[in-house]
Amino acid sequence: MKVLVTGGAGFIGSHLCDSLLTEGHIITVVDNLILGKKENIIHLIGRGDFYFIQEDLLQFVTLKKIFNEGQFDMVFHLAANSDIQKGSNNPEVDYNLTFNTTFNVLQCMREYKVKKLFFASSSAIFGETSAQLSEDYGPLQPISNYGAGKLASEAFISSFSYTNNIQTWITRFPNIVGERFTHGVIYDFINNLKKEPDVLTVLGNGEQNKPYLYVKDLIEGILFVCKHAKDRFNVYNLGSDSRTKVKEIAKMVIEEMMLAAEIIYTGGDRGWVGDVPEFKYDLTKIETLGWQAKYNSNDSVRLAIQKALGK
Ligand SMILES: NC(=O)c1ccc[n+]([C@@H]2O[C@H](COP(=O)([O-])OP(=O)(O)OC[C@H]3O[C@@H](n4cnc5c(N)ncnc54)[C@H](O)[C@@H]3O)[C@@H](O)[C@H]2O)c1
Repeated sequence: MKVLVTGGAGFIGSHLCDSLLTEGHIITVVDNLILGKKENIIHLIGRGDFYFIQEDLLQFVTLKKIFNEGQFDMVFHLAANSDIQKGSNNPEVDYNLTFNTTFNVLQCMREYKVKKLFFASSSAIFGETSAQLSEDYGPLQPISNYGAGKLASEAFISSFSYTNNIQTWITRFPNIVGERFTHGVIYDFINNLKKEPDVLTVLGNGEQNKPYLYVKDLIEGILFVCKHAKDRFNVYNLGSDSRTKVKEIAKMVIEEMMLAAEIIYTGGDRGWVGDVPEFKYDLTKIETLGWQAKYNSNDSVRLAIQKALGK
């Protein structure tokens, strides 16, 4: 297929490009590099089946031109704001980078009759709840602008899917870790310890407890869902059923860096406004489809730390 990957120079998007190329697809990446990096895709640039366009999806006229020329069979829409804190401080960030990018992509898909869409959604759409989160859980009450941008995107994707007969696969990721990450708890801990090896400051009380998934597991899961879920509109939670506490991640990073840093907690039950301190997925739907992650949450975290340290 001729495939458009938005956000393909980002952490997850670049791994997706690697796998899609292995499967023989022809890829165009559109990314403005606001959060992603050219280094993430540098090994692909120059290939005859890979095109990189540095452009902002909010430039609608240019985006239409890209769709017109690209004649895509499928879009993998991953471009978004991935910095939840930034979006909490300025609501326009998620409104523009997460919601409006989606809306522009949908408008182009409608105009240029692209009939297949994958969308990278998030556990953040569920909000704060102690319930085990199945795909049917509701009401959905996000507590971050990031989660709101994803939920609003899902809503418009649903209506465009119906009105334009676009086959759609939405997967809701947990916390993703691994090579080329551009943000997140492990990224922050490693960088902070490189600057100050004796002390590690942890936002919150360290009890935040969430599922972490290794990026290569995630990509496998995404492609599995796109191949095997056959409805017009498909929604799946994607993750592992175990969780890891932030204080355990802090200890693992210190251990893997062979340091003896003291851990200082800033206190409170969460890292920042909009952070959901705990959640747990019900994965029955994806397991019934036939997919399970290879690595549990602790192993994903450990592996990501080791990869980041070049081990
Ligand atoms: N990493 C996670 O733990 C996680 C969890 C849940 C959902 N997600 C979702 O997965 C997707 C990929 O996340 P990631 O971790 O790789 O983040 P990332 O920031 O590394 O990738 C996002 C990419 O989108 C690009 N982008 C943003 N706005 C753009 C715009 N207006 N025009 C063109 N490009 C733009 C950025 O430059 C970046 O390369 C995002 O949609 C994110 O919300 C990620």
